[in-house]
Amino acid sequence: SKVINCEPLKSLIRSVPDFPKSGILFYDITTLLKDKAGFAELIDAFAQYYIGKQIDLVLGIEARGFIFGPALAYRLNAGFVPVRKPGKLPAETITVKYDLEYGSDSLQIHKDAIAPGQRVIIVDDLLATGGTMQATIDLVKQMGGEVAGIAVAIELDFLKGRNRFPEYDVCSLLHYD
Ligand code: PRP
Repeated sequence: SKVINCEPLKSLIRSVPDFPKSGILFYDITTLLKDKAGFAELIDAFAQYYIGKQIDLVLGIEARGFIFGPALAYRLNAGFVPVRKPGKLPAETITVKYDLEYGSDSLQIHKDAIAPGQRVIIVDDLLATGGTMQATIDLVKQMGGEVAGIAVAIELDFLKGRNRFPEYDVCSLLHYD
């Protein structure tokens, strides 16, 4: 399906040079979130894309996937599931480890969060290298869920993260090169 043109919303995103470290240009969504029309437009664009696609669950990736995910889940009449940094979830979990430029990181999900065959979309604020998203896809597959889509507010096109998962449909609203 077609993604609504959200390019005008870029004016609500603040670029912060050298955060969190020197040489990185950080796209700060807090300036968009506090704008009632901007925030609504973003969630509406996601909702329009996924309405009618029988989505059972929206998975949000910590931390900023927790901002967009629940708003979208509400609109889709779907449940929300948090994918968290290690040690945060109280019940039995499944862990996925993934490589970073230097070292590695992990994400966890509750063992009973997804029933086999459930249709899941994964939501995050930003797709960069795609490592975080790939790890989350692996979690969903391990649990027998079906990845019905990947939704990100911002895609850093030059990093070509989406090439890591050509078999999945990516809905990204704002593009930076
Ligand atoms: C950012 C962003 C994504 C991830 C994307 O999270 O919110 O989750 O990086 O990067 P990737 O595509 O290269 O994997 P961050 O590491 O800043 O963690 P935080 O959300 O907990 O601050």
